[in-house]
Amino acid sequence: MNQPKPISLYRARLGEGPVYDERNGLLYWLDIEMGRIIVYNENNGKEEYIDLKRRDYISSMCLSETGRLVATLRYGFYWVEADGSATPIAEILERRQDIRFNDGKCDARGRYWAGTMDLNETRAIGALYVLEGSALRPVLHNVTISNGIAWSLDNKTMYYIDSPTKMVKAFRFDLEKGQLGGSWIAVDMRHEEGIPDGMTIDSEGMLWVAVYGGGKVVRYDPSSGEKLEEIKLPVSYTTSVVFGGADMKTLYITTAGREEKEEAGRLFAVELPYKGVPLYRYREKL
Ligand code: BGC
Ligand code: CA
Repeated sequence: MNQPKPISLYRARLGEGPVYDERNGLLYWLDIEMGRIIVYNENNGKEEYIDLKRRDYISSMCLSETGRLVATLRYGFYWVEADGSATPIAEILERRQDIRFNDGKCDARGRYWAGTMDLNETRAIGALYVLEGSALRPVLHNVTISNGIAWSLDNKTMYYIDSPTKMVKAFRFDLEKGQLGGSWIAVDMRHEEGIPDGMTIDSEGMLWVAVYGGGKVVRYDPSSGEKLEEIKLPVSYTTSVVFGGADMKTLYITTAGREEKEEAGRLFAVELPYKGVPLYRYREKL
């Protein structure tokens, strides 16, 4: 297996939220704590920044069907323009000082799923929400650090990570209604060093999980919970993953700058013998 290499100039404090646009070869990722979007152009290796005009957290992002950016800021979902201005779509009502939005992703119908987390990372005061058009509703409560989300290729299962549980949970997924049904444990990572963070799925239906504090990304079979591959990085705080590249065989990995290493906080890339599937896009009107 190839080794991941750092490819960004920028070193994030908390690099996260990678999104690949297969229409133009742009890879977007975030520095949650700096309110910055980094745009990496695969075609020429250049990188540009979009800084929020009004300083805020920016924790996850989706592309819309028309190619615009939608993101979760501290308390809600916003359109974000190329000049960094942000317009609210929907916000949560309870603005507690000890929470913020975290990871999120769009489903095959264009709904945007994203959850909140305890800033102290210990209490189950967060929730998972879904945005349908401009209507926001809570889906799960008692979440501590809402993190990676992915759907099975047939959209009958949603995989979900609440990081401190050290498990990937699976829920029966009703794509038509946007509802979760019964759940089970798809992957148990309690014996692993570190905690599961961001996640994506490949064209064989296998999960790729970034292990925060474990310095690696791991490929799991969600039907058996079995570990299939493990790719080590030279940094400890691997936060999220997405597939990109013209052939969808490049795995992009974000990291956090929470250690004294030159590569910490950079975006990494590795060519794999596995293929990803394009992300779904946000639909403004449902
Ligand atoms: C959060 C971080 C957290 C990490 C590990 C990330 O998604 O944004 O604040 O430390 O997960 O749980
Ligand atoms: Ca995350």
